[in-house]
Amino acid sequence: MARVQLTINGTAKTIDADPEMPLLWVLRDLLGMTGTKYGCGAGLCGSCTILEGDSPVRACQVPLSAAAGNSYTTIEGLSKDGLHPIQKAWLEEQVSQCGYCQPGMILEVRALLKSKPSPTNAEIDGALADHVCRCGSYPRIRKAARLAARLGGGR
Ligand code: FES
Ligand code: FES
Repeated sequence: MARVQLTINGTAKTIDADPEMPLLWVLRDLLGMTGTKYGCGAGLCGSCTILEGDSPVRACQVPLSAAAGNSYTTIEGLSKDGLHPIQKAWLEEQVSQCGYCQPGMILEVRALLKSKPSPTNAEIDGALADHVCRCGSYPRIRKAARLAARLGGGR
């Protein structure tokens, strides 16, 4: 067991757990934050993507010990009302089907727009290339990402 302090969505947390426990399980099982999804558990699908600072990371691949002192944003923390510009764009374009991949996609787009407020289509495709959507909603995801940029999703 280890005691680890980290910040989740602006709130300081102290976690007592196995230092090798993936951050994904810390979020879902210990903190009850189920917005971050478990897909492959191997860093391949992107469904567990969260932000470490402004950078996307795969929560299934971050052991608790490596998260010490860091600040994370999950889908629950992107906005208070669910109406961040990226979320507005997602609603406008009616992106979600089952929705399972969407928290990871949205946070990946957030990271992209933070570094490139007006990305090219190729840059959007590049950022999302390693995210899997089993429902095949890729065209609407790309469209929503372009709209999110116009709405100022990087702010
Ligand atoms: S569950 Fe983490 S990348 Fe698939
Ligand atoms: S909307 Fe179902 S997996 Fe992407």
